[in-house]
Amino acid sequence: MYQFTYRFERRDETKNFTASQMMEQVRSMVPEKFQNVSLFTISEDVTLLVSKKGKPTLMCKAVKEQREQDLSHDHEKQRLIDPTKPWWFLLGLTSRDGKVLADMQHKFKQICKYVEIVDGVMRQTKFDNEIHIADMGAGKGYLTFALYEYLTTHYDKKIVMEGVEIRPELVVKINDIIEKCKDTRQCVSTIHFVQNSIEEYKPSNLDVLIALHACDTATDDAILY
Ligand SMILES: C[S@@+](CC[C@H](N)C(=O)[O-])C[C@H]1O[C@@H](n2cnc3c(N)ncnc32)[C@H](O)[C@@H]1O
Repeated sequence: MYQFTYRFERRDETKNFTASQMMEQVRSMVPEKFQNVSLFTISEDVTLLVSKKGKPTLMCKAVKEQREQDLSHDHEKQRLIDPTKPWWFLLGLTSRDGKVLADMQHKFKQICKYVEIVDGVMRQTKFDNEIHIADMGAGKGYLTFALYEYLTTHYDKKIVMEGVEIRPELVVKINDIIEKCKDTRQCVSTIHFVQNSIEEYKPSNLDVLIALHACDTATDDAILY
């Protein structure tokens, strides 16, 4: 992408353009708005001058000193969740080689954001060496896995995660995925799904309760819990 910064008296406005959009922008501005355009590259400096009569002159000058290419904008964004972990493929969020599927991008962003929020709250809380977490109305388990993955990677504590879901077919499916992940030698020994309603779920230990988009009265039940 090409980044344009438009400078106004009291603010700057930044827009990103693809190569063809960028050319369109330049064409719409030169020479009507700008008669002098400079392009600096690592090997040459190019200047376009348009005279008052509209005659263009292009001047190219090779760069003498060595210029380094600035790749700082190309850095991969640090993600809280690693999409190459096997559960993401098995849960249907990524392709086999760990690329987030186009129609799952929104869900992936959503769970990353949720993990960030939960982490912010948990960092302000003191826990024992084991943290017991229940995800109420866990559904397909995206958030359950996301938080489990994050906490087991970033917290120096034993994380025990239970997804509570009323639909038995989902619980069987996800526990099956957990079993499959055990073969990949990934850390999934303390995550488990139970078929139960939020109201009737009675864990022996509970430190953190999460519930995202729990439908019907499930959000209320989770808050009431
Ligand atoms: C909209 S889904 C959300 C799934 C997941 N939390 C997410 O955000 O991706 C809500 C889930 O809560 C489950 N659910 C609804 N009421 C429940 C209850 N009383 N007890 C347990 N699960 C419930 C539904 O079966 C459904 O899978």
